[in-house]
Amino acid sequence: MAESMKGLKRTHRCTEVDNTMTGNTVTVMGWVQKSRNKGGIIFVDLRDRSGLLQIIFEEANVGEEAYKKAEKLRSEFVIAVTGKVALREGGINPNLKTGDIEIIAENIRILSEAETPPFPIEENSKTKEELRLKYRYLDLRRPDLQRNLMLRSKVANITRQFLADEGFMEIETPILNKSTPEGARDYLVPSRVHPGSFYALPQSPQIFKQLLMCSGYDRYFQIAKCFRDEDLRADRQPEFTQIDMELSFVDIEDVIDVNERLLARLFKEAIGVEVSLPIQRMTWKEAMERFGSDKPDLRFGMELKNITDVVKDCDFVVFKGAIDEGGSVRGINAEGMGSMPRKKIDALTDFVKGYGLKGLAYLAINEDGTYKCSFAKFMKQEELDKIVERMEGKKGDLLLFAADKKTKLVLDVLGALRLHLAEMQGLLNKDEYRFVWITEFPLLEWSDEEGRFTAMHHPFTMPMEEDLELIDTDPGAVRAKAYDIVLNGNEIGGGSVRIHQDDIQEKMFEILGFTQERAYEQFGFLLNAFKYGVPPHAGLAYGMDRLVMLMCKEDSIRDVIAFPKMKDASCLMSEAPGRVEKKQLDELGIQLKEAEDSEE
Ligand code: AMO
Ligand code: AMP
Repeated sequence: MAESMKGLKRTHRCTEVDNTMTGNTVTVMGWVQKSRNKGGIIFVDLRDRSGLLQIIFEEANVGEEAYKKAEKLRSEFVIAVTGKVALREGGINPNLKTGDIEIIAENIRILSEAETPPFPIEENSKTKEELRLKYRYLDLRRPDLQRNLMLRSKVANITRQFLADEGFMEIETPILNKSTPEGARDYLVPSRVHPGSFYALPQSPQIFKQLLMCSGYDRYFQIAKCFRDEDLRADRQPEFTQIDMELSFVDIEDVIDVNERLLARLFKEAIGVEVSLPIQRMTWKEAMERFGSDKPDLRFGMELKNITDVVKDCDFVVFKGAIDEGGSVRGINAEGMGSMPRKKIDALTDFVKGYGLKGLAYLAINEDGTYKCSFAKFMKQEELDKIVERMEGKKGDLLLFAADKKTKLVLDVLGALRLHLAEMQGLLNKDEYRFVWITEFPLLEWSDEEGRFTAMHHPFTMPMEEDLELIDTDPGAVRAKAYDIVLNGNEIGGGSVRIHQDDIQEKMFEILGFTQERAYEQFGFLLNAFKYGVPPHAGLAYGMDRLVMLMCKEDSIRDVIAFPKMKDASCLMSEAPGRVEKKQLDELGIQLKEAEDSEE
C-alpha cells in the first residue's frame, strides 16, 4: 500500500548530499533505479532529477518492518528514505557524483509501487523512439532528457534576465488570430460564435510585435509558441518556440549588437562556451557561392569552386551544354578521398540524383599524379590540369563536379554533398560552435508555382536603401535588410529591419501581386496603425528548440521538447489529433466531408 508524506520532509535531492555531511541524518526521495539483495544487506540506487545516490539497508539498522519493505523494492518504486550519510565502505564509484558516499537507511516509506516499465529507464537508451514517445512520461525520467530540459529551462531564464536588463518588456500576444496566408500553412481553429469563420494559430508574433512598436513599447520580447503546418523534419515541429524580439529606433547594427551579447551570455552561462565577438558576417551571395547554402556549416572547409570559365569551351557536352544554357559548372575537392571505390562514388551519384541533378562527374588524382576521371575522354590534358589547378587538387584528392543550366540547383546539390561528405569523414564536431550572420538576403524569391515573386522573409522586410532604384527594373536583384544567425549549419534565428514608410510598403505589395484591397483585407490593422505614427523598427526571432538542441549536442529538436510530435504531426502518447463528437461539430456548424460521402 502506498504510504503518505505525513510528517515527512525531503531535506536534499540525491546529489546534494556529499562527503562533507558524513554522520548527518538526511531524508531523500525518488525512484528506485536498481535494488540488489545480497542477503542481510540490500543496496538500492535511488534516482531523482539530480542524479543517483546509493542507499544501504541492513536489518540491524532499519529494524524488521522496514527491512521487509526494502525487500519488496523493485525498479521505479517511489520511496522516501531517512538515514545517515557515510563514506562508502565498498569501492568508490568514480562515475557517480555521489560515488564516495552512501546512506545507511534508518527508515523507509514506500510512497508508490510501480509496474515494470516497458523499457529501462537509463541513459543512452537504445529503445525505439516510437516506444519512448508513447511512454514519454517514462522517457522523460531518463537522465539525458532530464539534463536537456534543465538546460532548456536555464536558457529561458538567462534570456529573460538578460533581455530584462537590456530594457526589454515581456508581452504576450494572442494565439487566436486571423489567418494571413503568406508563409507556411496555418493551423485553423473553427469559431463557434461565428459559424463558418476560423481563427488561425500564430506562425509567429510578427504583426503583433510590430504593432507593439507602433504603441511605443520600444523593446519587446516573448518566449512564444508558434504553429506551422509544414512537412516535418528533425529540426521542424508543428508547434515550436521562438525567443522573439522587436526594437524601435534601431538599424541592423543595434539588433546584431544586443543579440551577440545575448548569445555570448547564453553560451557562457548555460554551457561554459566562450563565443568570441563580433560574430563573423557573410553576405547571402558569398555563402551560396562558397558553401552552396544560406546556412553554411563553417566547422570544415571543402568550399565550392566555380570552374565555369575553365571549361566553357570544352567538348564535354554535360559541362558545355549547361554553360551554353546559362548555367554553371562547379565542384568540391574531397581532400584525401581520391581512393574512394567506384561503388561509393556511385552512391554519391545517387545522392545528388536525389536532389534532381542528372549525374556527378569526378576526377581522382592518383598518388603517381595521373588522373582517374569520368569525363577524361572528352577533355584535353591541359584542360584537366587547369581544372585540377582551379580546384587546388593534390595527389590523393577526389574532385566532384556538378553541372546544370540552373546554377541554383548546382549550388544546392554541392552544398548538400559537402555536408554529406563531411558526415562521412566525421568532420562534424559537436563540441565546436561556429556562428555566422548571413546578411543581404534577396528581398524576393521567384515562385514558379505561383508565377510571381514572394517575400523571402516576409512582406514587411525593408529593402536595402542602395537597391531601392532597382525595385521596378530588376526586383529579383534587390537585397533586403534581413539577417539570419547560423550555428554549425543550422538556421537558429532570423529577422529584419521592417518597412515603416507607406510608399515602400505599397510598392512591396504591388510587386508581391497584392491589390490594395487584398493587402488591407489581410494586414489592414497593421497598415492602419502605421498611419498614426510608426517608429523605425527591427527585430529577430530564434528557434529556441534548435538553439537548445545544439547546446545539448542532440540531432533532433524532439530531444529538447518535453512532449514533441512525430513526423506525421501526431502525438503517440495522447493520440492527438483525434476525432470529436458530432455534437461538437454541430455547434461549430461543421460537417465532415467523409461523413457526407458515406451518407450518399
Ligand atoms: P522565421 O520564420 O525565420 O522568422 O522563424 C524564426 C526561427 O524559428 C525557427 N523555426 C522553427 N523551429 C522549429 N520548427 C519549425 N517548424 C520552425 N520554423 C522556424 C528557426 C527560425 O530561424 N517573425 C520572423 C522573425 C522576425 O522577422 O523577427 C520569423 O518567424 O530557427
Ligand atoms: P554521360 O555522358 O551521361 O555518360 O555522363 C558522363 C559523366 O558526366 C558521368 O560521370 C556522369 O555522372 C556525369 N554527369 C552527368 N550529368 C552530370 C551533371 N549534371 N553534372 C555533373 N556531371 C554529370
